[in-house]
Amino acid sequence: MPPITITRAQPAEATTLQQIAIAAKSHWGYPSHLIEAWAATPIITAAAIERDVVFVARSETTLIGWGRLLVEQTPAVLEDLWVTPAWIGYGVGRLLLRYAIAICRERGSTQIELDADPNALGFYLRMGGVVIGERISEWNRPVPRVRFNV
Ligand SMILES: CC(C)(COP(=O)(O)OP(=O)(O)OC[C@H]1O[C@@H](n2cnc3c(N)ncnc32)[C@H](O)[C@@H]1OP(=O)(O)O)[C@@H](O)C(=O)NCCC(=O)NCCS
Repeated sequence: MPPITITRAQPAEATTLQQIAIAAKSHWGYPSHLIEAWAATPIITAAAIERDVVFVARSETTLIGWGRLLVEQTPAVLEDLWVTPAWIGYGVGRLLLRYAIAICRERGSTQIELDADPNALGFYLRMGGVVIGERISEWNRPVPRVRFNV
């Protein structure tokens, strides 16, 4: 397998990143009307890519996952983490999360928090996160709030 690289995203990649997020969320089998309503919102935009720390995983030239870190806040927030379904389970999420942690350390941030999709919670726990509570998230449902000390 060619190496997977993680780099900062380019504004022109916003549409592809939006498609990856929609495909990744759909992977959990949510009702299509919920996915469609969410997909119609701007999940990621060129402006957000310029403003936030948005990073992409690539296999050769193909984008296969991405994340967004809001590092100006304390704690930093991992706002997005998405892997293309065909690549789920191959270590891409780990590489993306490690990149986010490295950025946090560089910026002097000591914690990352996120609202976890319940289906992804096992991933975050495996990566060393701890559940610190619950938040009402998209679709008005409670989801675990996860913290990493980095
Ligand atoms: C959650 C997600 C980002 C994980 O990325 P990934 O590339 O599949 O994860 P990795 O292959 O890097 O897995 C790293 C470790 O976590 C474990 N893991 C991964 N997903 C898991 C899950 N859903 N439940 C339990 N453990 C999981 C892996 O087995 C692996 O463990 P190992 O070290 O023993 O091998 C990816 O599944 C995804 O995009 N899912 C759909 C969208 C989503 O829910 N995003 C998160 C929103 S909060």
